[in-house]
Amino acid sequence: MTLLRDEDLAAAFDHASRSYDTLVAANPGYHAHLRRSVRRIGLPGRGHGLRLLDLGCGTGASTAALRSLLPAAEVTAVDASAGMLGRAAAKPWADGVTFVHAPAERLTEAGVNGPFDAVFAAYVLRNVTDADAVLAVVRDLLRPGGRLCVHEYTLSGRQVDRAVWTLVCRGVVQPVATLLGDGLLYRYLWRSVVEFDTAGRFAHRLDTAGFDHVRVLPLPGWQTGIAHTFVARRPHEPGEEG
Ligand SMILES: C[S@@+](CC[C@H](N)C(=O)[O-])C[C@H]1O[C@@H](n2cnc3c(N)ncnc32)[C@H](O)[C@@H]1O
Repeated sequence: MTLLRDEDLAAAFDHASRSYDTLVAANPGYHAHLRRSVRRIGLPGRGHGLRLLDLGCGTGASTAALRSLLPAAEVTAVDASAGMLGRAAAKPWADGVTFVHAPAERLTEAGVNGPFDAVFAAYVLRNVTDADAVLAVVRDLLRPGGRLCVHEYTLSGRQVDRAVWTLVCRGVVQPVATLLGDGLLYRYLWRSVVEFDTAGRFAHRLDTAGFDHVRVLPLPGWQTGIAHTFVARRPHEPGEEG
């Protein structure tokens, strides 16, 4: 599913990059929820010796969540929007963070090579043209036993959750974004969530894409029933220790 062509979406994010950090700072729990999802990956210690991929890193909020909990891990942060990526790369980072300008669909061509111990995809898979194709790429980049963590707006399927999502978008997000000149992107945000998988459907998609140990975990606050963390594993090879 795509609601804006890839290049139009990247251009819309380029424009929105100027105010992105301000908008997400006004979203209660945005950063805390990202950290909660990182904790749910279940990686040990401070991340010594681990290689992580932050897919669709945007202005670096998800990268910061990874680094705050796993400061010793090496992080490759990728985004298709030069504007968003530029904002992320301009922030002060300790050693071990690399930024790559590439679409999720063409990671290998951009020199992003596995194996990774974990992939974090926060608010990105709903935006890609072919989520199944991207999941196949991600699966191949993980080491056997490596974890995928998807943090995404995925509705529960209950009418009340869809109504809250519509109310938040129409009543708060879209008016502010329109004033900032980003109305198109945030109208797309509403529609992309309504038209994307429900949480149950997305869990099934992960299963079908060849992941195992798929878990769906709710996020708290106003996002209850609206956003979820999905943690899944690339299966071990036959005969390998599980
Ligand atoms: C809503 S932002 C989330 C950014 C960050 N992960 C966070 O949690 O704040 C989604 C990001 O995904 C990027 N994106 C969308 N489609 C993409 C694709 N096909 N490949 C790579 N990045 C993509 C956008 O450019 C944008 O920066």
